[in-house]
Amino acid sequence: MTAKNGFKRNIIITGGAGFIGNHVVRLFVNKYPDYHIINLDKLTYAGNLENLKDVEERPNYTFAKLDICDFEAVLRLMAEQDVDGIIHLAAESHVDRSISDPFTFARTNVMGTLSLLQAAKTYWEGKPEGYEGKRFYHISTDEVYGALKFDGTLFTETTRYQPHSPYSASKASSDHFVRAFHDTYGMPTIVTNCSNNYGPYQFPEKLIPLFINNIRHKRPLPVYGKGENVRDWLYVEDHARAIDVIFHNGKVAETYNIGGFNEWKNIDLVKVLIRTVDKLIGNPEGASLDLITYVTDRKGHDLRYAIDSTKLSNELGWHPSLQFEEGIEKTVRWYLDNQEWMDRITSGAYEKYYEEQYANR
Ligand code: NAD
Ligand code: TYD
Repeated sequence: MTAKNGFKRNIIITGGAGFIGNHVVRLFVNKYPDYHIINLDKLTYAGNLENLKDVEERPNYTFAKLDICDFEAVLRLMAEQDVDGIIHLAAESHVDRSISDPFTFARTNVMGTLSLLQAAKTYWEGKPEGYEGKRFYHISTDEVYGALKFDGTLFTETTRYQPHSPYSASKASSDHFVRAFHDTYGMPTIVTNCSNNYGPYQFPEKLIPLFINNIRHKRPLPVYGKGENVRDWLYVEDHARAIDVIFHNGKVAETYNIGGFNEWKNIDLVKVLIRTVDKLIGNPEGASLDLITYVTDRKGHDLRYAIDSTKLSNELGWHPSLQFEEGIEKTVRWYLDNQEWMDRITSGAYEKYYEEQYANR
């Protein structure tokens, strides 16, 4: 790969071919033509370069197919491109997969993050100016805080870490490593913990795209347990905007929670999805309600997540831009309009994974 010189900044975004990553890459490539954005992604089952077709030819965009666990290759890339910022999203991200395969989560989320930190440390400490003007921004989840009861409490930045799933345990561990690199070596790090995201380009193993696709194809909608669990949903482009604001204006060593004060019980959310899809494809109201199928609950299923993002709003002026109803309608329309994108993903290996999930229930 040849270095692209003359840019004001050279920034690696890891996991840029994934769901949230592609929105962050698109925002940065479009908004900052004087930044060189390097999308570092291994292209696991969840990574899809089709998600970035609209920016792949831009002069300020480069794709690097790399594993974050490959310390030597990441270090080489940092040196070749003189990287001064890292926005780290690459991860294994699906709780159900972490339950059946925890090792992969420890490898990527813990060892991969450590390897990335060590590469950044090695490269930046070798420069005359050291850490000046550098930033390592780690994207984490609200799931590290564990589960809330139905008592109106919210996760704040000082809530004790209490992860329950192998996914959240691996993310919690990576958060600790990031903070340790600040405290031990003085690396300018930032950590953010965000609630559940929804929107275009989400891999259809996650609730919202999976259910939209199933409603369209009149397939069962597998609601875990009684559908009583609560999640706090944020439109993915609002998360990307928060990442932009925090990358530029967030204080080093700080943690910021990101969320939209938008809690939904799963079963109520499923009913909103049914209503919206039925309306948009011209089914009579309620036609798809009988697709709801209650199935065995997820092991260790966290009851409720809810984020308090007051610190981010007060200190950095970020607010979610979309009302949920508007965001859901936009999202459903996108999946209905992009059925080919969905069909290409839901054939082959994915089909096999999904069948196995259900065989194991
Ligand atoms: P995703 O699974 O859609 O995408 C992950 C991306 O990382 C993929 O492109 C994949 O190819 C890449 N990747 C995986 N392992 C890699 C490796 N070893 N080396 C390089 N690339 C690798 O995930 P997402 O939903 O976009 O989540 C992105 C980040 O945001 C994750 O760190 C996740 O923990 C965090 N997060 C997600 C949500 C959510 O609701 N999706 C909420 C809060 C935080
Ligand atoms: P998911 O999208 O996997 O996100 P997370 O587990 O990270 O919150 O699931 C969102 C909620 O929906 C969660 O409470 C589990 C539930 N769920 C179902 O009921 N059925 C499903 O098929 C899936 C994938 C999730």
